[in-house]
Amino acid sequence: MTELREELQSYLSGSYELGRELTGGGMSRVFVAEDSVLGRRVVVKVLPPNLAAGINAERFRREITLAANLQHAHIVPVLTAGTAGELPYFVMPFVEGESLRSRLIGEQGMPVIETVWILRDVARALGFAHSHGVVHRDVKPDNVLLAGGSAVVTDFGIAKALASSRVAGPGETLTQAGTSLGTPAYMSPEQAAGDPNADARSDFYSFGVMAYEMLTGRPPFYDRPTHSLVMAHIAELPEPIELQLPSIPPQLAALIMRCLAKNPGDRPQSAREILDALDDLDLSAERGKQRTDSAAIRSGDTGPGAYADGTVLMPSAKLVARKRWSPAPLQSFLSASHRRIRRCIICVREWSI
Ligand SMILES: Nc1ncnc2c1ncn2[C@@H]1O[C@H](COP(=O)(O)OP(=O)(O)O)[C@@H](O)[C@H]1O
Ligand SMILES: [Mg+2]
Repeated sequence: MTELREELQSYLSGSYELGRELTGGGMSRVFVAEDSVLGRRVVVKVLPPNLAAGINAERFRREITLAANLQHAHIVPVLTAGTAGELPYFVMPFVEGESLRSRLIGEQGMPVIETVWILRDVARALGFAHSHGVVHRDVKPDNVLLAGGSAVVTDFGIAKALASSRVAGPGETLTQAGTSLGTPAYMSPEQAAGDPNADARSDFYSFGVMAYEMLTGRPPFYDRPTHSLVMAHIAELPEPIELQLPSIPPQLAALIMRCLAKNPGDRPQSAREILDALDDLDLSAERGKQRTDSAAIRSGDTGPGAYADGTVLMPSAKLVARKRWSPAPLQSFLSASHRRIRRCIICVREWSI
């Protein structure tokens, strides 16, 4: 563990000073680091020896170079890439904020408005990358970072670079070695089937899975073990999202289910098509819900409690200590456990009840 860190640091000294390691479900090891020249924070991702062993480093570097040329407001750029000894690494800016994954933890579904703005940012990023010949191949909440009121997509082209730079190991054919790597829960049917030519429309499938999860709290087939999950992506239709979330705007449900079509030809064919569909959504009812909540908070005429869209207002610890609230309405809401809590707002202002 520490050996890899020391080895990496010795190659990077003078350029980057490694700091804490980030944990993630990913294939690489990730360190926060400081750019010694510019003093800015970056992340350094390095392939561990077991993965690097099966990689043609030159090919990997070539693929990463493609991704490094993507400059877009919603894409985390690759700043530099190289090999530390045998281990390919690449450097990206550190994004201050949280990942969509951590935003989703404990959620049973995000509000529609928030979901749509994140999806719009992600679709813009995909559209730009696709028009430059780069497919993502690992679109998932872990690779969407939320910062400064916008969403940025990271790890563009990494999965593809890993897949296409793999060399056959003992007993493996080159086709098996070239099978795309990705994350089973978000894999398109063609990716799951090992199609090395999975194109931009494969990203739209994963985008659909992610959208499904954002709104319902769970991706399709979430309760299956990995093998049957992969089979389900290939052969089984996911439950229509409107059955899980009857209040979803029908056009949004239709868009998400179209992204989840098994046949790439039945999905949206371009990010532009997705963006147009998102722009055409009638979200007036959703906006109404948000306004009701914020108006309630602003006017201060309401106590802790719950609202129709699943928002809960909670008093801050300070207010509780000063006995500026009555626990009764909130307790009665929380005990009605059949209702779903979507969002919890901690109120720091006093209000009278
Ligand atoms: N550029 C970045 N800035 C800040 N955090 C990042 C950045 N890239 C990745 N992370 C975080 O580092 C962790 C590991 O990332 P990664 O290896 O890509 O794994 P995965 O995306 O599969 O979870 C994740 O929690 C991710 O949110
Ligand atoms: Mg990642």
